[in-house]
Amino acid sequence: MPSFANPFYGNVPPGKMSLYELVRAIRLDIAGEHEAVSLYQAHADATDNPLAKKVLLDIADEEREHIGELTQVLRMLLDDEAQLLENGAEEVKEMAAELEGGAPSTSAEAPTVGSLKED
Ligand SMILES: [Fe+2]
Repeated sequence: MPSFANPFYGNVPPGKMSLYELVRAIRLDIAGEHEAVSLYQAHADATDNPLAKKVLLDIADEEREHIGELTQVLRMLLDDEAQLLENGAEEVKEMAAELEGGAPSTSAEAPTVGSLKED
């Protein structure tokens, strides 16, 4: 399980965070959301009470939405975040296509017959 230091435990830093500090704080927040999802789902799995299970799983889904919100903030704060996330997603899509026996998914960066010709 990831273990991040809490940079603000017990006191608020003087002044406002720099962009670098804000990005690091949001990454910590995202990790906390993932941890919350895991806890709610584990607790839902560990009970037979239908109401508690339903509420815990609903809250877990809300935490997943928070991950989406925070990730979108990072995409808007950093010029390269969206591209790096998309690069990772494309790698997984290509691996999935290979496992399915199909051709890798096409993307703007995928080579074509014409692009492989030497000049
Ligand atoms: Fe949350």
